[in-house]
Amino acid sequence: MTTELEQLRDQALSDIAGAEDLQTLDEHRVALLGKKGEITARLKSLGSLPAEERKSAGAAINDIKRTLAQAIEERREALQQQQFAERMARESVDVTLPGRGERPGAMHPITLTRRRIEALFGQRGFEAVEGPEIEDDYHNFEALNVPPDHPARAMQDTFYLDAGRLLLRTHTSPVQIRTMENRQPPIRVIAPGRVYRCDSDRTHSPMFHQVEGLYVAPRVSFAELRAELQSFLEAFFETDLKLRFRPSYFPFTEPSAEVDIDGRSLGTGAGWMEVLGCGMVHPNVLNAAGVDSQRYAGYAFGMGIERLAMLRYGVTDLRQFYNNDLRMLAQFA
Ligand code: DAH
Repeated sequence: MTTELEQLRDQALSDIAGAEDLQTLDEHRVALLGKKGEITARLKSLGSLPAEERKSAGAAINDIKRTLAQAIEERREALQQQQFAERMARESVDVTLPGRGERPGAMHPITLTRRRIEALFGQRGFEAVEGPEIEDDYHNFEALNVPPDHPARAMQDTFYLDAGRLLLRTHTSPVQIRTMENRQPPIRVIAPGRVYRCDSDRTHSPMFHQVEGLYVAPRVSFAELRAELQSFLEAFFETDLKLRFRPSYFPFTEPSAEVDIDGRSLGTGAGWMEVLGCGMVHPNVLNAAGVDSQRYAGYAFGMGIERLAMLRYGVTDLRQFYNNDLRMLAQFA
């Protein structure tokens, strides 16, 4: 082998060994062994040599070609391995680290209670309907037999809007009116939702939830109302209950009653606890909503969802439902 060839080979081998990345290595490969590469050119020029030199020169160049091809291949593998090792180091994940943990949320106790009430009345044939939280005076008061100067308005401290034309509904009873305006009897609905009163202490919140109930049909009796409420309350509290229907007054019902539960039935000790208001829908209310009070009768009831939730879960301060303290809320998960 000529020194010139040896120099070419040694230079090439040192270039290959010095290639720091795959691209540089490939550039060397093309420059040496590619179609226009140095080695390829030399193989092509063999034909111009005198016949007696051709064989040994060809063998020498082919030998270099093999050596270089093998050196390139080895260098390529080394670079690829190095790249892979770098990537593994960069992307590695410590699978022994403790996890960050998950904190699944839960339904709010008031939502749970509302859904439970809806389900229990659903089983009893009551469809859940909704009405607007921003009401007009007519639906919240007048159609419910509460005229402008009626003293019963003082029972509910109203948030007025729009110079008194609109208000935040003080109860869910206006949904009775809206339902009767839009449907023909028989009507059997409950209306759960938010209500608002300007009032705040341990047992009152400016926003709370009620469920209204309404049944209108050709013949409806107070006895049916009583049986329905007894059945619902016993299902809700999952126990037999001693109830008291105490005569009371609401402008929209006649007669009216408030229902008390004997505390002993719930294990909270003696004493009657009021849970809801109810009565036979006043004929003025039926007529105002377009239902013929000569042909139809109805019963209605309204209850506070927070109140039922407090009794069921043993919560003593209403405001605990709205502080959003996770130690409290997580107990209902
Ligand atoms: N609307 C009453 C209140 O907010 C509750 C109520 C009482 C609703 C008697 C009724 C009813 O439908 O018949 O205190």
